[in-house]
Amino acid sequence: MIKGVIFDLDGVLVSTDELHYAAWSQLAKMIGITEFNREDNQRQKGVSRMESLEIVLEKGEKCYSDAEKVLLANMKNDIYVNLLTDLDQEAVLPGAVEILMRLKKLEIKIGIGSVSKNTPIILEKTGLITYIDEVSCGLDITNSKPDPEVFLVAANKLGLQPKECLVIEDSKAGIIAARAAEMRSLAVGPEHKKLDADYCSESLSNELDWNLLLG
Ligand code: G6P
Ligand code: MG
Repeated sequence: MIKGVIFDLDGVLVSTDELHYAAWSQLAKMIGITEFNREDNQRQKGVSRMESLEIVLEKGEKCYSDAEKVLLANMKNDIYVNLLTDLDQEAVLPGAVEILMRLKKLEIKIGIGSVSKNTPIILEKTGLITYIDEVSCGLDITNSKPDPEVFLVAANKLGLQPKECLVIEDSKAGIIAARAAEMRSLAVGPEHKKLDADYCSESLSNELDWNLLLG
């Protein structure tokens, strides 16, 4: 019996995955990398800022020191945070609020499990924070997905056992992390069929069988 749902943030509740892509694309161009594309970006989903940078740098010839890599990651984050300036409830993906309201009515606890260190600002700006019981994010963990840490911290904060939690994710790293945490998983988004989750749906706005998902 599921007592809590742990949502990934970028690409599940909000469209910020597109802003990450825009910011990495801009950084790649600034350092002369023209080959960075959506396929590379797909691999960045769910993984940390520094690991995401490595995926960009694979496409170039140049080697950077650790200190230079930190500067590059900071540059990307500055671009990204700037793109977040105008973020509001319009960025919330279709079906998300309806599901959060339904879960509240059912007295299912709601958690966030996101590797992003920008999670608090995104939850505030979109107004999603009002629905969330506990947040586990990049500021709480040392290992990014596919390590299960971010979901285990979320379950712990919610006061639930892993087997009582359902994870909703759009990334391969996230579904692997949910399995490693021994949590049930629902994959959403463009790659939903490829992700080897327990259940999948193109979008949160599609009809979902909550008896099955929570049973
Ligand atoms: C999420 C996104 C990743 C991003 C990571 C770190 O997991 O899916 O694409 O790299 O967060 O985000 P941050 O906002 O801390 O740079
Ligand atoms: Mg995601």
